[in-house]
Amino acid sequence: MSIRPGEHAGPELGPTVRVPAHVGIIMDGNGRWAAARGLPRLEGHRRGVEALRRTVRAAIDVGVRYLTVYSFSSENWARPAQEISDLMGLLRRFIRNDLADLHRNGVRIKIIGERDGLAPDICSLLLEAEDLTRNNGGLTLIVAFNYGGRQELVMALQKIARKIAARVLTSADLTPELVAQHLETAGIPDPDLVIRTSGEQRMSNFLLWQAAYAELVFLPIHWPDFDRAAFDLALMQFAVRERRFGGVTGKTAPLTVKTAS
Ligand code: IPE
Ligand code: IPE
Ligand code: MG
Repeated sequence: MSIRPGEHAGPELGPTVRVPAHVGIIMDGNGRWAAARGLPRLEGHRRGVEALRRTVRAAIDVGVRYLTVYSFSSENWARPAQEISDLMGLLRRFIRNDLADLHRNGVRIKIIGERDGLAPDICSLLLEAEDLTRNNGGLTLIVAFNYGGRQELVMALQKIARKIAARVLTSADLTPELVAQHLETAGIPDPDLVIRTSGEQRMSNFLLWQAAYAELVFLPIHWPDFDRAAFDLALMQFAVRERRFGGVTGKTAPLTVKTAS
């Protein structure tokens, strides 16, 4: 499979195509995009923000209801201090520059991830973005920032454990639904499609619980090159997948494996 930036996928993605309600994106490959051009990693991250803007527009255009973007993982603190500070700076700038525009377009912003450990001005910006857009009815943009799926699950279990200790709940109440209600994504449907750019094929601690039945699409391009054509290609791949959720559909022939006799 090859996708060239700027190349549109064509009219196949018509109104009849099944569009996922919730798309998650692991926006990966900014550093390699920059390195391939002899540029500093920061330039890759800057271009990554532009790709994010394009993607939000595309998601609105095609009618995706929820878009979750992985922008900083709990493990990204392992990067050099300068890069971390650059990424924090880009988040600040993104909210300052884009918040009004997102609001005008009816986007509701939700941030998931650990707030402890973030600079106070960043925490205020995150709250401002959520407060301003809380009642919007358009696309819900979920920004996973300082986010880790395992950490989120542990926090949910801690909340539940406290309720059990306080006898508000008993251990018999602990079900998958109860866990889901205590995650930061409570009330948000599970992602139908998770896209990862850069060619890496791993989850890197992204929406581990929620993506249990997500369709996964790995694209061989770096995030700064992600455009409408790449998005359409991922959506088309999703549209032809057969989702079974553990059941049977009878639409496909049983898989037969030939063994040497
Ligand atoms: C994704 O690009 C952005 C973040 C993780 C913040 P990377 O910075 O991981 O780029 P690569 O994977 O090193 O190319
Ligand atoms: C995942 O990318 C995190 C984000 C895209 C924010 P990484 O680049 O941090 O993941 P690994 O280290 O390659 O697994
Ligand atoms: Mg990476």
